Amino acid sequence: MAKIVFFSQTGQTRKFVEKVKQYESIEITPSNFEIEMSEPFILVMPSYEANVHPIVIDTAADFLETSDNIAYCKGLFGGGNLNFAQLFCITAKTLAKDYNIPLLHEFEFQGTPLDVKKLEEELQKIE
Ligand SMILES: Cc1cc2nc3c(=O)[nH]c(=O)nc-3n(C[C@H](O)[C@H](O)[C@H](O)COP(=O)(O)O)c2cc1C
Repeated sequence: MAKIVFFSQTGQTRKFVEKVKQYESIEITPSNFEIEMSEPFILVMPSYEANVHPIVIDTAADFLETSDNIAYCKGLFGGGNLNFAQLFCITAKTLAKDYNIPLLHEFEFQGTPLDVKKLEEELQKIE
């Protein structure tokens, strides 16, 4: 069964993934990232400017580099705030580039119903 893995500093991304009821979600944190995955998953990451919050990107990188996690990561969803203009969803974009993982979708804050539908559709595809 496909899974959602996410990071959430202030709770917006957690609220987004909790709207998808049919799939289990797993939260990674700076002190809990060594989780070994054995099923395909989508990684949902909010964005924090690299120099403001390196801890966010480092947590995701450490998680992806745990065991065979990169192989099971079938795509990224990037959360952010459009006011950040060219830095919109910078964390997910950086991870997509660094790890050669497709960036499937970008959304703001806790997502719209269309963003939730998109995540459900992408999870169905990787089942
Ligand atoms: C200090 C700070 C820096 C942020 N930097 C960015 C950014 O560079 N790009 C972006 O798209 N959003 C940025 N955001 C917006 C967050 O990514 C957005 O609010 C997101 O929904 C937060 O998710 P979370 O509550 O799960 O941590 C920033 C927010 C804060 C508080």
